[in-house]
Amino acid sequence: MDLMVAFAFHCACLALALADCPPPAVQNAAFTPVQSSYTDGANVTFTCNTGYGLQGSRIHYCRGSSWEGSLTCYEQFCETMNNPRNGIIVGNPSYKIGTYITFQCNTGYTLKGNSQLLCRVDLKFDRNPPTCDVNMCPDFGAIDHARIFQATDGGIENDYGSVVKVTCEDSYVLDGHVSVFCQGDGTWGPKPTCKPLDCGRFDGMNSSCVKDFVLLGTLYYMECKSDVPNTRIGAPDSTSSPNECEERSRKWMYSQFGCFCHCKVMYNKNIVKTENLDPNDYLPHNTDLKWSCKEGCTKKQNNALRCMDGQMELPSSQFGCFCHCKVMYNKNIVKTENLDPNDYLPHNTDLKWSCKEGCTKNQTNALRCMDGQMELPSCTCDANVHTGEPYTTDITTKSSPTGQTGEPYTTYRPTNPCPGFCIIATIIGAVVLAVVALIVIYMYKKKKWCFVQNMEAPLPMIEPPHEKGGNPFNGNTSKPNDDNNMKHIEEMDKLLSDNK
Ligand SMILES: *[C@@H]1O[C@H](CO)[C@@H](O)[C@H](O)[C@H]1NC(C)=O
Ligand SMILES: *[C@@H]1O[C@H](CO)[C@@H](O)[C@H](O)[C@H]1NC(C)=O
Ligand SMILES: *[C@@H]1O[C@H](CO)[C@@H](O)[C@H](O)[C@H]1NC(C)=O
Repeated sequence: MDLMVAFAFHCACLALALADCPPPAVQNAAFTPVQSSYTDGANVTFTCNTGYGLQGSRIHYCRGSSWEGSLTCYEQFCETMNNPRNGIIVGNPSYKIGTYITFQCNTGYTLKGNSQLLCRVDLKFDRNPPTCDVNMCPDFGAIDHARIFQATDGGIENDYGSVVKVTCEDSYVLDGHVSVFCQGDGTWGPKPTCKPLDCGRFDGMNSSCVKDFVLLGTLYYMECKSDVPNTRIGAPDSTSSPNECEERSRKWMYSQFGCFCHCKVMYNKNIVKTENLDPNDYLPHNTDLKWSCKEGCTKKQNNALRCMDGQMELPSSQFGCFCHCKVMYNKNIVKTENLDPNDYLPHNTDLKWSCKEGCTKNQTNALRCMDGQMELPSCTCDANVHTGEPYTTDITTKSSPTGQTGEPYTTYRPTNPCPGFCIIATIIGAVVLAVVALIVIYMYKKKKWCFVQNMEAPLPMIEPPHEKGGNPFNGNTSKPNDDNNMKHIEEMDKLLSDNK
C-alpha cells in the first residue's frame, strides 16, 4: 500500500515537472499576460491593485512548472490629517485611497471650503482642507439709558463668545443680566434693559417747608426754608446730605425726609394760656400744644392739638375756650336768678330772669350765654314805673368788656388800637381843634371875652372816640359792635386758610 502511494506521488511530480506553470497568484495584484498556463521561461508582469504599493519584483518567470520571483502588494494610505482649528475630522477615517475624510466645525464656527476631501491614488487629497471661521454677531447696538462696553480681553469684537457688559445711567436700574454673550449661532443673548429707578415717594417729599430740591440720579438733595421756622427730618442737618434710593432694595435710605413747617398758633391771649410756644407763637412740627384756659373759661375740646407740617390738627377757630358772660342789665327793672355775685353767667346756660311789676320782657326767646356772648335782658315798663336813673349811665359804668376775657373774644391777635376811622376822626378832631384855637386867639385879641366863655362848653363834644370800636354796650346793643375788627378777623381766617 505504501509503495502504491509513493509511486503515484512520484508519477504526479514527474508529470508536474514536465508540465507548464499555472497562472501565478499574488494578492492585491493583477498580471499580464493572462493565460491558462505558461511555458518554461515565460514571464508575467505584475501590477498592484489600486491603493496598493509594490514591493519586490514586478516580473516573475516561469521556471519549469513554478514561478520565480517574489512580490508583495501592500495597502497604501493618504497622510493622516490633524483636526482643523475649531473643528474636527468626523469619525475615524481610513485614509485609504479613494476614501473621503469629512470635516466639521465646532459650534460658533462656520466651515469655509469643502467639507470632504478625497484621498487620491497619488496619496494626495484632491483639495486643500477647509477652515473653520468664527461666527460673528451683528453690531450690539444701543440700549436706552445704558452704557455698553466690550468685556472680552483682546481679540476681535462681536465674535462668537464675545462678552458685552451693560450698565445703566444714573437713576436707571438694570433689568436682566449685566453680561451678554455672542452665541454660536451669531446672535446675541437676551439683552437687558435699563428701567427708571423708582423708589417711589418718601414721607416728607412734599413737606411744606422745602425751599428747593433736586434729584440727581439716585440722590435727592433738599434745602429747607430759612425764613419760616421748620424742622429738617431725615439726613443730618445739612443741605449736602441727600436721601438715597438704594438700588438693591429699591427703597429710600430715609423713609422720612423733609422740611416740616412749624405752626403759627393764633389764639386769644386774654383767655388762652400756652406753655410750649416759641416767642413768635410757633409750635414745632409733630408737637402737641400745651395749653389751658383762664379761670372762668373751659376748653372747647380736650383732644390733643398737634402741629403737623405747619397745620394745626384743628383750625384756630375750632379750639380755644368758652367763657362765661358778664351780664349787663338795668337792675332797677330786671331781676335775675342764676348770676354769680359778679354778674357772670356760665357758658351754655340760659339766663333765668323776670321783669319788675308793670314791666314786660322785651325778649321772649331764651337768653343763652355762648362763649362770653349773649343777648342782654331788657324790659319795657309802663310810664308810671320807676326804671332807675340814669338808665344808660348805670349800664355804662358796669360795662367794661375787657374785665375777664379781653375784647373782643374772637380776636386771635392783638389789633391796631386805633383803626382807620379812628385815625380819620382824630385828624378831623385836630383840625377842628386848631380852627377853634385860631378863633379863640382871634377873639382874645379882639378882647371879646363873653364869646370865649360861651365856647368852652362844646369842646369835649369834639373829642375823638379813642375807645376801640366805641362802647359795645351803647343803648341796647348786646354784642361788641366792631365791624372793622370782624372784617380783620375774616381776612385773617382767609389768609390762614389760604396758607393751608
Ligand atoms: C518576456 O517575454 C516576452 C515574450 O513573451 C519577451 O519578449 C520579453 O523579452 C521577456 N522579458 C524578459 C525580461 O525576459
Ligand atoms: C404728601 O404726599 C403724600 C403721599 O406721598 C400724601 O398722602 C399727602 O397728602 C401729601 N401731602 C401734601 C401736603 O400734599
Ligand atoms: C324794648 O322794646 C321797646 C319797644 O318794644 C323799645 O323801645 C326799647 O328800646 C327796648 N329796650 C331794649 C333795651 O331793647
